[in-house]
Amino acid sequence: MFSSFLAASLLSLALSAGAFPEYRSLAGLSAAESTPGAQPPPPAINDTSSKLVFDEAHPWEPLRPGDIRGPCPGLNTLASHGYLDRSGVVTPGEIITAVQEGFNMGWDLAAFVTYAAFIVDGNHLTNLMSIGAKTPETGPDARTRYYWRFEHSRRIRGNFLFNETLFDQLSQAAIDFGSNGTLDVTSAAVHRHNRILDSIARNPNFTFVTPRYLTAYAETTFPLAMFVSNQTSDSSMTLGLDDARSFFQKHKYPDNFFRRNGSYGLTEVGVLGAEVFELFPNIFPGNNEGVGNYVLDPEDPGFNGDGLCYAYYKQTNFTLSLYPDPTDDLRTALQQNLASFYSLLGDPTCEEVFPFGQ
Ligand code: HEM
Repeated sequence: MFSSFLAASLLSLALSAGAFPEYRSLAGLSAAESTPGAQPPPPAINDTSSKLVFDEAHPWEPLRPGDIRGPCPGLNTLASHGYLDRSGVVTPGEIITAVQEGFNMGWDLAAFVTYAAFIVDGNHLTNLMSIGAKTPETGPDARTRYYWRFEHSRRIRGNFLFNETLFDQLSQAAIDFGSNGTLDVTSAAVHRHNRILDSIARNPNFTFVTPRYLTAYAETTFPLAMFVSNQTSDSSMTLGLDDARSFFQKHKYPDNFFRRNGSYGLTEVGVLGAEVFELFPNIFPGNNEGVGNYVLDPEDPGFNGDGLCYAYYKQTNFTLSLYPDPTDDLRTALQQNLASFYSLLGDPTCEEVFPFGQ
């Protein structure tokens, strides 16, 4: 049943400081004033071996006034080390290259996750997005209604940067269930399951459907697969709590941190995500209709059936609802970004759709 976790996971620049694409400073325009439109995803990096990534070229630096960080400890860390622009305002291409360089996330997973987020969160004309709160630095917002996935995430979690209560819960799961008090597959799955049960019990509006359903399981695996220094396919997936805190709270690589050996792409997240799911295989996509009343969504295949295509259509329709009647350059950029998104499905079994024309 989990084979389509691949599809599931689908949903959800070696950019050293100062190495921005030229359009950022063209003709004295600020990034938010320049309108390059849609850009194709950058290529995969060639060398996916393990290497020191907390190196002299990528020092950790504290936040400057105005720097933005968000709910993703991976992107936050990359920004605080200069793999991403330290401001937290970035292009999708920069994210795709940075997650490969800094964590060895596989290109296929990186590109799909990034485009899935960008088409609804990003600015299609300036080609910029924020990794945290909405900001005018990405340019004028052309969406007809408010939607901000990264901001939405903050509302759910209560605290944008670090939530000590949640980290305590994660730590407790590691102490009670992990091998030698570490975060491992079992303790990570327990923590994820507890969070879901807690939301069902307390949040009357809890929704847990594609794409969030899929990315939640994928994200559960990320610390095990990418926050462990020098991880190889043979090494144990155990993350010490001090190292976990370094990423989650300080957005900092532990000293002498080596990225994993070999990329963590769709195939790998499919395997590990399946392990997480199988420990509590009774949660399916749905939403609360009142506290404690979790109703399944019969349309949503989750990990079964063709989750990939379901996710593609859903995200595409959502984009259309944000831009019901775009004109000129905006329409062109939307067409191109949706075409890129479809191309990242790999070998899809569903037809491409063209809500903004071809
Ligand atoms: C490829 C581009 C990526 C995008 C667009 C992205 C985006 C996000 C977003 C929006 C969330 C919040 C989800 C929510 O709670 O609603 C999140 C969470 C998370 N991300 Fe990322 N992410 C990316 C890559 C990565 C990488 C490379 C890592 C690890 C190396 C990572 C690790 C995590 C973890 C562990 C969480 C869960 C955090 C928590 O539960 O507190 N992400 N990501």
